[in-house]
Amino acid sequence: MRNLRKFAFLGVLALVPLAGCRQDMHDQPRFKPLAESDFYPDMRSARQPVEGTVARGQLHEDTYFYTGLVNGKPGDYMPFPVTKDVLERGRQRFDIYCTPCHSRMGDGNGVVVQRGFQRPPSYHTDRLRNAPLGYFFDVMTAGFGAMPSYAEQVPARDRWAIVAYIRALQLSQNATSADVPPGQKVPSPAPEFRGDPGSGATLPQLQPVQNESGGEAK
Ligand code: HEC
Repeated sequence: MRNLRKFAFLGVLALVPLAGCRQDMHDQPRFKPLAESDFYPDMRSARQPVEGTVARGQLHEDTYFYTGLVNGKPGDYMPFPVTKDVLERGRQRFDIYCTPCHSRMGDGNGVVVQRGFQRPPSYHTDRLRNAPLGYFFDVMTAGFGAMPSYAEQVPARDRWAIVAYIRALQLSQNATSADVPPGQKVPSPAPEFRGDPGSGATLPQLQPVQNESGGEAK
């Protein structure tokens, strides 16, 4: 019994140097972020990155693609060709990120607005119909007044896809029979706009929308 106690005591004793080791690891000779140091003349422990250093994945060489601006002014061209897929992607992203305020029609009467948020201007005004494409990109990238920037949530390529879709939306709401390709007829009566509870008065009831394959759209 006495021996057992002695061994137990020795065992505990043996742990003491180990605990010491652990403490050493806690107290490393390093600086916490932004801590002061008198090692450098500017008293900052952190150094500036070497000039010209670019973090991985952040080489934004194509300025127009990332800002929509040419010499500080919005440009008026797409940085890549607009295909049906691009428009489809733009519609999808627009419906996710922009409709809560701007509504699916872009008239500025989204659900968030109906519950009290500042009402954005409609896209269907001469001013915004004539605004260059890069302007819409810039608004999404930098934010605009009460509207926050969407650069963190929507990658640059998707922001451009949204730009293309907004332009299509503007054309769709301001089209005349002259825009119908020759040989095709204007449907009569024009199909009513469906599917956006946010767009207000013109929607007496919602009906299931048929998709291309004839089934119900999900
Ligand atoms: C949280 C609500 C909200 C969301 C979501 C939102 N916006 Fe806005 N947007 C606004 C408001 C409010 C204004 C008007 C801001 C002002 O005048 O201060 C505005 C203004 C605009 C304008 C017009 C700028 C002008 O010159 O008048 C554009 C274009 C625009 N938004 C595009 C977008 C796009 C594209 C998205 C989706 C990526 C988006 N917005 C998402 C609230 C929103």
